[in-house]
Amino acid sequence: MKVAIVGATGEVGRMMITCLEESNLKVSELDLFASYRSAGTILYYTDQPLTVQELKEDSLLTHYDYVLFSAGAGVAKNYAPIAAQTSELVIDNSSGFRQESDIPLVVPQVNGELLIGYNGIVANPNCSTIQIILPLAVLDKLFNLNKLIVSTYQSVSGSGHQGIETLMKQRKGTTDKGIYPQIIDLNVIPQIGGFLDSGYCQEEEKMHFESRKILSKWDLAVCATTVRVPVVYGHSASVYAEFEDAVDIKAAETALQNAPGIVYYPNTYMTPLDLGSSNDSHTCRLRLGTDDKSLAFWNVGHNVRLGAAANAVEILKTHAKYSGKL
Ligand SMILES: NC(=O)c1ccc[n+]([C@@H]2O[C@H](COP(=O)([O-])OP(=O)(O)OC[C@H]3O[C@@H](n4cnc5c(N)ncnc54)[C@H](OP(=O)(O)O)[C@@H]3O)[C@@H](O)[C@H]2O)c1
Repeated sequence: MKVAIVGATGEVGRMMITCLEESNLKVSELDLFASYRSAGTILYYTDQPLTVQELKEDSLLTHYDYVLFSAGAGVAKNYAPIAAQTSELVIDNSSGFRQESDIPLVVPQVNGELLIGYNGIVANPNCSTIQIILPLAVLDKLFNLNKLIVSTYQSVSGSGHQGIETLMKQRKGTTDKGIYPQIIDLNVIPQIGGFLDSGYCQEEEKMHFESRKILSKWDLAVCATTVRVPVVYGHSASVYAEFEDAVDIKAAETALQNAPGIVYYPNTYMTPLDLGSSNDSHTCRLRLGTDDKSLAFWNVGHNVRLGAAANAVEILKTHAKYSGKL
């Protein structure tokens, strides 16, 4: 299988290499691209040194089975359509294509069937949406979800490498705000992305739209509050969900325990520091909400793994299975 990664030197790109290694897929050729800034950097895939190449107009004219993009929306908008002409599947991590009606937005355990017979560009959803939509899809099947209220606690690595650098410099005493609108060290910032006319910020609107699209529930009521916290890796979310039907906590627990991609904790809770190298959506503190048609829970996921690289590689694997490459 021939694979390329665009944005290979970033937080997500490096993790894509790791997730490919962990997947045991037979990758016969792996080409790595980034900007001119890190062209020539050596990265390793299964102990094999690979030289990062500068992404140029003609870089993606060769045929790849899979091209993974993690270089932001601007780069994806320019280069993903070129790659899609010659390669089978282009999996993009940015927000560049998520809202396009003819581009599938995929979390394989939820709507992986969209990949059957599909070639072209696939969008990887927003990190905080992926981790909460896994348990919500399970609960939706049982009780029919109609309203979602979520508050997130998102780590600085969600802003890429510069987010981590900003926090680390502030930990050492700088008062420079770095890439954030306020100091992030020893603080929380209730803003991720710019504010829109609606009063919500971009990350919140992404969660609204993407939850509806992934669940194919365009009338789902959603209200998100997204908050940046001084955590390095791992996003957390406090989720409150209302349903058409009365809920049954025991049935919910059993379904969550048996669902792929979810680790359910009946008696304890999870924190970002406990995540290690897990690719799962960790769900805990499940309890009744305000009435017998609502539930509340706590959810933690590794934003660079589950929220980006691992979901992208899961899309690749699912597509490869459907198309007979595996
Ligand atoms: N971090 C997360 O938790 C997360 C989660 C979900 C989705 N995403 C999305 O994934 C994408 C990458 O995020 P990240 O966190 O990995 O960011 P990052 O650490 O800042 O890395 C950005 C990558 O893009 C490359 N790049 C930038 N401009 C380029 C250009 N003109 N041509 C080619 N490559 C270019 C960089 O290469 P250089 O080294 O040459 O600068 C680097 O490899 C973004 O769209 C982000 O929204 C991130």
